[in-house]
Amino acid sequence: SSPFLIDSHGRRARDLRVSLTDKCNLRCTYCMPAEGMDWMPAAQVLTDAELVRLIAIAVERLGVQEVRFTGGEPLLRKGIVDLVAEVGRLDPRPEMSLTTNGIGLARRAQAFRDAGLDRVNISLDSLDPAVFLQLTRRPRLTDVLDALAAADAAGLTPVKINTVLMRGVNDHEAADLLEFSLRNGFHLRFIEQMPLDAGHSWSRDRMVTADEIQERLSERFTLTPHPGAREGAPAELFEVDGGSGTVGIIASVTRPFCGDCDRTRLTADGQIRTCLFSRSETDLRALLRGGADDEEIAEVWRTVMWGKLAGHGIDDPSFLQPDRPMSAIGG
Ligand code: GTP
Ligand code: 5AD
Ligand code: SF4
Repeated sequence: SSPFLIDSHGRRARDLRVSLTDKCNLRCTYCMPAEGMDWMPAAQVLTDAELVRLIAIAVERLGVQEVRFTGGEPLLRKGIVDLVAEVGRLDPRPEMSLTTNGIGLARRAQAFRDAGLDRVNISLDSLDPAVFLQLTRRPRLTDVLDALAAADAAGLTPVKINTVLMRGVNDHEAADLLEFSLRNGFHLRFIEQMPLDAGHSWSRDRMVTADEIQERLSERFTLTPHPGAREGAPAELFEVDGGSGTVGIIASVTRPFCGDCDRTRLTADGQIRTCLFSRSETDLRALLRGGADDEEIAEVWRTVMWGKLAGHGIDDPSFLQPDRPMSAIGG
């Protein structure tokens, strides 16, 4: 049998997404309610040593080649820079990246680079302070803009921007966000809103679709499909105006890419999820704390990944949103 994380649909997971905390300092309306969530009890959150051990198992025994640190907001985890440095000492060294809202990144960008972080994806939904506040419920736009500049200066590149468009809130800014990104050399990707909000209030009708995004951008730019290979990346890439840059669209709902998914996920409380939309999880924390050895843990991981479902099933009549919101799974 294969040592790798392969599933019964012929896919192999090479990308481990690790959530470091379920806490966040923003309250994006498509993710969290204004009052926040019941945060995970601290005793259930994996320690740094536990996290490093599980990541080492994935990298050294299961063939994982990329580690993405995510949240909630991963920068809220104390000691994250040291954690990155430790993961960077694994052999073979995985590619390391961070998905963050950017708050607090500016002053730590160089430290992350020195710790071996390769690149960052920063969320930015608006360039207008009032709209930013309406969407995230916190007045932190300047922090995010500072983070983008600092990440770029520190060489955490390409700096990617993630944008979720909400109809009637920030969808009029699509072209402005692209202009801003092209001007600064950031790689912008628009993301279709997925049913992963804590309030379970997602609706297909309200979602701004990939087609709509392309139409809106076409009012100011000429988009042509990028010829390069996509290689399982969620973003479809388009060339802008014949080569002045690119823009990505992550059409998880209307053009699913599950058939090429190369991901496995670990939550901050030590649960394996084979998919963002999994309805069940596998408890590695209990195994770890119960004294299992590395190979036992690796074998459990292989077994659950084998059973990964073919797709997210959002279009199925029987689709049920996972109980955990995005903030407790990781982007
Ligand atoms: P790059 O490799 O840097 O392009 O990363 P990425 O696209 O994985 O980046 P990121 O973690 O920033 O995710 C961007 C968005 O893609 C997320 O906000 C999600 O909306 C979506 N996304 C990430 N992972 C998955 C996944 O496994 N399935 C689906 N359907 N969407 C995902
Ligand atoms: N649908 C799509 N993207 C989402 N994100 C958070 N919640 C959702 C959702 N329901 C995005 C954030 C961030 C990334 C980690 O996930 O905007 O960029
Ligand atoms: Fe925080 Fe990300 Fe959720 Fe926004 S989308 S509230 S930044 S975890």
